[in-house]
Parts: sequence; C-alpha cells; structure tokens
Amino acid sequence: MTHFSANSPHARDIASVLHPQTNARKHLDVGPTIMTHADGVYINDDAGNSFLDAGAGLWCASLGYANERLAKVAYEAMKTLGYYQIFRHASHGPAIDLSEKLLSIAPVPMSKVLLQCSGSEANDTAIKLVWYHWQAQGKPEKRKIISRSGSYHGSTCATISLTAKPDYHSGFGLPFDGFLYTDCPNFYRFGLPGETEKEFSQRLADKLEQTILEEGPETVAAFWADPVQGGAGALPPPAGYFEKVQAVLRKYDVLFVADEVICGFGRTGTMWGCETYGIEPDLISCAKALSAAMQPISAVLINDRIFQSLLLQSDRYGAFIHGYTYAGHPVCAAVALETLKIYEEMQLIDQVKSVEPVFLKEIGALCDHPMVGNFTGCGLIGGIEIVKDKESRTDWPASVGLGGRLDAAARRNGLILRIVGNRIAFSPPLIITAEEIRELARRLRKTLDEVHADVKAL
Ligand SMILES: Cc1ncc(COP(=O)(O)O)c(C=O)c1O
Repeated sequence: MTHFSANSPHARDIASVLHPQTNARKHLDVGPTIMTHADGVYINDDAGNSFLDAGAGLWCASLGYANERLAKVAYEAMKTLGYYQIFRHASHGPAIDLSEKLLSIAPVPMSKVLLQCSGSEANDTAIKLVWYHWQAQGKPEKRKIISRSGSYHGSTCATISLTAKPDYHSGFGLPFDGFLYTDCPNFYRFGLPGETEKEFSQRLADKLEQTILEEGPETVAAFWADPVQGGAGALPPPAGYFEKVQAVLRKYDVLFVADEVICGFGRTGTMWGCETYGIEPDLISCAKALSAAMQPISAVLINDRIFQSLLLQSDRYGAFIHGYTYAGHPVCAAVALETLKIYEEMQLIDQVKSVEPVFLKEIGALCDHPMVGNFTGCGLIGGIEIVKDKESRTDWPASVGLGGRLDAAARRNGLILRIVGNRIAFSPPLIITAEEIRELARRLRKTLDEVHADVKAL
C-alpha cells in the first residue's frame, strides 16, 4: 500500500473525495494525481511532472487551462449580476446575448436556445423535449430513442440509458426501457471483407431501417449521434454514413438529435460537426468548448418544429414545466459569450484547419508501429486502433491490461492519453501548435515502443 503522510493532500483526498470514473478500492492504495497549474497544452502535477494533454481534459479545455481574459469577464459578471434565474419570464443580458449568438452560428436554422449546465443536462433535457414534442403532436407512443453502440451521451439516469456502453450500466439496474442501440460505424472493426466504406454505411443504414420497422416507426421518436463518436474512441463516421442514416430517419419521421458536446466549436475543423458531415438536426446539444470548459454551461438548440410543439404544450399545461436553478447562469453565460468572441478573434476554424494536416500526418504516421492498426481523424479529433496482430486485427487479451500499461507509460513520458477500449482518442486543446503535435507524436511513439517491448514478451 502506498504510504501518504497523515496531513498530505493525498491522504486528505483519500479520506474525503469520491472520484467519478475511478476504481474506489484502488484509489485507497494509489491516491490522486493532484494537478496544480498549467501552461498552454501542458498541465503540471504537485510532484513536478509536466504532461502534454492529448485529450484537453475531458475533450473540453479548448484554450488550455488558464485564461486571464475569461477570469476578468467572470469577475465583472459576478460584481454586476452574479446570479439570477431565467424562470417565469425572468431574463438577463448574458443569457439573451449568448442565445442570440448561438442561433446566429447554428449549423442549420434553429428557433430557440435553452441554456443548461452540463452536456448530460443538455442531452437529458433534449430527451424530455423529444418526448414533449411527440406528445404535443398527439403521438405519445412515439418514445423510443436510438443511439449507437459505443456512444457516450452523459451520466444522468436517462443519458446513461442513451449511452450505449454496457459497462456504464452495470450495477445501476439501467438502462431504462425504450433506449435502443444500433451499430457502431467503425469500418476498420466491423467492415466486411471486400466491403467499401460506402457499402458499410449503407449496410448500417439498412440495419437502422430494419430496427425502426421491427419496433414500429410509430414508436420511434429520435436518433441520437455525436458527429465524431467520442465514446467509441473519437471515431469519425465512414464515407456517406450520415447521408444514408438521415434518409432513413426522414422516411419514418424520426427526429435527429446531434450531440455536439465534444464536436461543437471548431473541434472537427468547422464550427460544428454537423457542418463537417452534412447533418441537419432537429435539436443540438452542446457544452464543453462553449465556455472553453472554464464555466459549467451547455445549451440545447431547437428548431421551429419543436418550438411550435412547445407552444402547444404551454397552451395545454400553462407553462413549460422544466428548469434548473443554474440554467442560463449569468456568469457562465458571460464567460461562454467571451469564449466565442475569443474564437472569432483568434480565427479558431482557420487555426484548427492550419494544424489539421500536421495532426493527421503525425498521428497517422504511427500506423507503421506494430501495435497500431489504423488511424482516423479530422480537424483536431481522432483515434488510433491498438491491435495485437495487424493482419488479423486481433486484440490483446484483457489479462494484459493494455489500457493501464499505456496510461502509465504515457505519464512516465509526460503525456496524458485518453484510452477508450482498444482505441487511443485524441482531442488536444485547440490552441495546440504544429510543433506541440509533433512532440505529442514523439512521446506517443516512445510510449508505444516501451509498452510493446513489455507485452510482446508475455
Ligand atoms: C458526446 C458527449 N455527450 C455528452 C457528454 C456529457 O457531458 P458532461 O460530462 O458535461 O455532462 C459527454 C462527456 O464527455 C460527451 O462526450
């Protein structure tokens, strides 16, 4: 057992903090890594280690981890109006300005913005809005929601049901009924021999159609997808995928909800993943880079069709009975608005586009490594497939504990990786430079070499 002196922050953490996504028993032994400060894309711990963060925290720290300008905006907002709610016709400048701004940059015409506090809340609220819409339209049985295997959409009871990862359901008695999962569009893993990407996309769209028909189109309310599938390891879609999927959804009047929580605000090389992949959603959820992760804020954008349903429901029920105390929080909204201003001033999309070729080349070049089967990416997001054997595309057995080995080796090499199953996912801060991307690739190759040397001898 690791020893920490009684009053050290490590011992106090173990005694007091319950960590999400952490093995509670192991934590008693290993304790926390305590981060202290940051410098651009590098984050430092209290032991003096500096890490290049290949994941921007949780896909969110678009501008790195400290920002004086945003701090000043938060300070001023707190001095002026540190809190007010937007319930029951109340409003304030930051909520109005931010909503207006989001509508002006939306990838398709949208009608209204509902500000929330996290990606989970945004998706949870969007689920309710989908159900509310179909109820308003006199179709209360149209309730089922389809997401894709491997997807992650949040941790509330409903959004974890939408999340198509069995290990996220274990021990909770979830998912709820009425959440269905269709295929993960990973061409490298699930494409058939001789099949082209477009044929693969068509096959998946056909399967989706089959599911809708089997369930009864009159019971299927919405399809949920993040343009680049984060939970599947930052997986860009195969060619033609969203075009074919949308054709099926339109045929059966199934709503498309685009989860832009990680893709929104430049990540894929356009403002929205929807723009990159030609998606025309009815609702959009966004968060994370909306405030450069400096304040907890998210938003749901709804189109006019959904808003018309809301009007009908207000006529029926007297009000839209939904809301969180901190929804549209003025400090968060002011910071988000300033973040969007910063993106414009720094010409964020051009910045991402200018380093995208370096990102694709440098990470793609790792495909010559014996452990790397494949790389797909766009903008500043993507992932590599880790395999035991490239020819057969077989995986390392679970007993090897590859994820833990990669994580530990990467940290020794000054790199924080996001390992998702058999993929390493990349979503570095959007301010990363070409040279920092090269450094990331160098540290990653060293990590892969070291882990390979260990595991091939097993
Ligand atoms: C695609 C996607 N949707 C939703 C969420 C949930 O966001 P939050 O953690 O802010 O609740 C995440 C979080 O990583 C995500 O990646």
